[in-house]
Amino acid sequence: MKPTSRNALTVIATLAIAGGILAQSAWRSAAQQEARYLPEFTASGELILPKNFNEWVYVGSPLTPDGLNNGKAGFPEYHNVYIERGSYEIYKRTNVFPEGTILFKELQRVLSPENPDGSRTETSGRGYFPGALNGADVTVKDSKRFADTNGWGFFNFNHFEPKLAQAKAQPNDKCAYCHTASAKKDMVWTQFYRLLDR
Ligand code: HEC
Repeated sequence: MKPTSRNALTVIATLAIAGGILAQSAWRSAAQQEARYLPEFTASGELILPKNFNEWVYVGSPLTPDGLNNGKAGFPEYHNVYIERGSYEIYKRTNVFPEGTILFKELQRVLSPENPDGSRTETSGRGYFPGALNGADVTVKDSKRFADTNGWGFFNFNHFEPKLAQAKAQPNDKCAYCHTASAKKDMVWTQFYRLLDR
């Protein structure tokens, strides 16, 4: 091969690689800028049950079985917690929950208890296994709208199924006071979620 055609081939190969890298990074930044799902409110200010929360980023499941709480846990029983995906991306970069962040706690019963502590035995051992869904509690960060409850709105969508289609903000003495007193970071119990505890 003549040196000139070898040079031409090198140029073509370099361009192809550069093109590939550019295309890849464009794809990556498009994925990063995934649209956020922001809270939707009715005209009277009730929060509409967030859509597709099961596809958000799952951060953990604190578990308070009735069997370990005098037969009646305040929040029965699994607390499966999700954060809206776009807000999570911003949190990862900035370490701050942006305005509009939604945290969704879906409650779920333990599967058919066999023992007084609520546990049962399955092939993997004695313990707790996920059963029926059981309503949801949701928080929304909006410093202006929810100034009275420390910058977050608190919403109960039933502690049974089906979940409400919309829910009104709870006063401070129902929810927020407790988060204000002991949650680790900006009203969120980040101490229980490895992905958020940073
Ligand atoms: C007595 C204290 C207390 C009260 C009252 C309370 N919470 Fe919580 N909440 C917690 C604790 C502790 C956690 C984390 C551990 C867990 O779920 O067991 C939590 C977690 C949450 C989460 C998951 C995100 C996070 O901040 O960790 C949401 C959403 C939530 N609560 C909403 C509510 C709503 C809505 C109400 C009122 C209907 C409420 N909470 C009332 C103590 C409380």
